[in-house]
Amino acid sequence: MLSQIKDIAAPLAPRLIEIRRHLHSNPELSGQEYKTAAYVAGVLSSCGLHVQELVGKTGAIATLPGTGEDSRLLAIRTDMDGLPIQERTGLDYASQLPGIMHACGHDVHTTIGLGTAMILAQLAVQQGGLPGSIRFLFQPAEETAQGASWMIRDGAMAGVSAILGVHTFPTIPGGSIGIRYGALTAAADDLELIITGESGHGARPHEAIDAIWIAAQVITTLQQAISRTHNPLRPVVLTVGQIQGGRAPNVIADQVRMLGTVRSLHPETSAALPAWIEKIVASVCQMYGAKYQLNYRRGVPSVQNDLALTQLTESAAAEAWGNDRVQILPEPSLGAEDFSLYLDHAPGTMFRLGVAFEDQPNYPLHHPQFQVNEVAILTGVVTMAYAAYKYWFHR
Ligand code: NI
Repeated sequence: MLSQIKDIAAPLAPRLIEIRRHLHSNPELSGQEYKTAAYVAGVLSSCGLHVQELVGKTGAIATLPGTGEDSRLLAIRTDMDGLPIQERTGLDYASQLPGIMHACGHDVHTTIGLGTAMILAQLAVQQGGLPGSIRFLFQPAEETAQGASWMIRDGAMAGVSAILGVHTFPTIPGGSIGIRYGALTAAADDLELIITGESGHGARPHEAIDAIWIAAQVITTLQQAISRTHNPLRPVVLTVGQIQGGRAPNVIADQVRMLGTVRSLHPETSAALPAWIEKIVASVCQMYGAKYQLNYRRGVPSVQNDLALTQLTESAAAEAWGNDRVQILPEPSLGAEDFSLYLDHAPGTMFRLGVAFEDQPNYPLHHPQFQVNEVAILTGVVTMAYAAYKYWFHR
């Protein structure tokens, strides 16, 4: 079946590059992917798939019905949004929209979703149907970690038995696949902390409650406590990225506001973090007579790749491209990915698609010069289509 899939995919490659370049030239910001979704719906309809538009606000869903021999429903998720970045690649198909760029490869992901749908639709015709049904999820607003929850709210995961996803990766050679067992990305939460003391003369600290000094104590105690009270094999990163307070050099500040991000990999660690942070903040503030307000907002959980489905994608990639083009990734990323929200509804796995060039510089994701080695598109669609095919013969 792999050779049939490759035979269908090879002649589609120029069309897929054309699709990817169209998407790249026309990026849209999170939650505004109207033209992208309409374009996606057009391509899907032209391969005979039934498309539901405006699912998850600006997303789309298409279904390839199976013969019913297998009652399971497989979902394939790709994301569609660009970033508020001014592109500086100099490519002739660079973004036509000032200040908006596909700098995270979501143009490639969308293309892989479309290419996989084209291949499997043709394969279904050749085979007289695939055993079970496949639902293609084209998700908006991944960069703002909103889109997955919008899709789920609109029923995208209803009846889904398993879900597959993909993300480009610029440190893996173009055309290779990265497979990660267990945690792929981190849980990412937002922190806002307001510490309130009492203002006073800068020369008479004993008559005031210095919110800046107490804020410094809170930050220092949190960073020290991470190293002493958390299992070092279950990492936590707490970054205060923004802090404001005070009005004059000789006036003790009565209030400090800080904003931060909290990352962790282990679900139990993640669950315990808000109470742990509050305990430290409360203790330090109480010790020095300050008040505090802590707003801890859950972002997205960690992506935990399912063992059996990860084995499935690894074997699909290895059969398709050989073991030397499959890397087992030893480490997760402390980046975040809202693919994790789907995993509350069904097991899933996300693989990494190498997009690095051998003969030109490679820039990181979210960089204004980020570029994709387009050989990866064929690798991505064949791997995804073959993994989806193998799913029906894998329990
Ligand atoms: Ni991304």
